[in-house]
Amino acid sequence: MWPYPQVVAHRGGGILAPENTLAAMQCGLDYGFTAVEFDVMLSKDSVPVLMHDPEFGRTVSGVGKVADTLAADLLKMDAGQWFSEKFCGERVPAYADVVRFCREHKIWMNVEIKPTPGTEAETGAVVARLSKALFADVACSDVRNLPLFSSFSDDALVSAKLHAPDIPRGLLMDQVSEDWLERIAHTGAMALHTNHRYLTPEMARTIRAAGYGLFCYTVNTVERADLIRGWGVDGFCTDRIDLIAADY
Ligand code: G3P
Ligand code: MG
Repeated sequence: MWPYPQVVAHRGGGILAPENTLAAMQCGLDYGFTAVEFDVMLSKDSVPVLMHDPEFGRTVSGVGKVADTLAADLLKMDAGQWFSEKFCGERVPAYADVVRFCREHKIWMNVEIKPTPGTEAETGAVVARLSKALFADVACSDVRNLPLFSSFSDDALVSAKLHAPDIPRGLLMDQVSEDWLERIAHTGAMALHTNHRYLTPEMARTIRAAGYGLFCYTVNTVERADLIRGWGVDGFCTDRIDLIAADY
């Protein structure tokens, strides 16, 4: 039922590299991870780039918003220096370049569509259309070689479904909402992605008994991974790629 890897490097290289950069993907790879999660957002001119925060200040310096900045300017920004001097000069990458890198290295991708407020449907559409083109050579039955989209935004997922129906989707929820079944049906998702902290064994059983995949974020100890695996969780992402083995 879950055709994907069980352990996924969160934001590329977890705590070991600046999140959502090509260096992070390389770091995950160096630790044996061939499955990765990262966050995708649109620039002002609707180019998908890897970024978690809608505003500058944490992973890129300065003041401003991703949605107000042209891609040409975003792609010049340093996304590594905040992490350490070693990564100084590491740029904000374009989604298309990360897909090329991951495909070249046979890294499976959980692409989190992270719209800035008000751009939910557009972000879903743009990421889906571009992905459709980037994976045009992969058969829709070959899901292991296609990305899995996920999003906290139902609208983004519905839009992604419309524009790239053959790329599977996972619905992200911090806590599983009471109407999860309706939302998962509405978005046509094959899996529920949720925060392991709020998951209960009963909920895990219910989700899997309903025929959906169950993915958790962000699991950072082997003990916790063992516990939720016992509940039937199919996969999880981790920041601790140094503690949890890729083949766990
Ligand atoms: O996709 C799982 C996880 O990445 C969701 O939360 O904030 O780390 O993107 P966040
Ligand atoms: Mg994410």
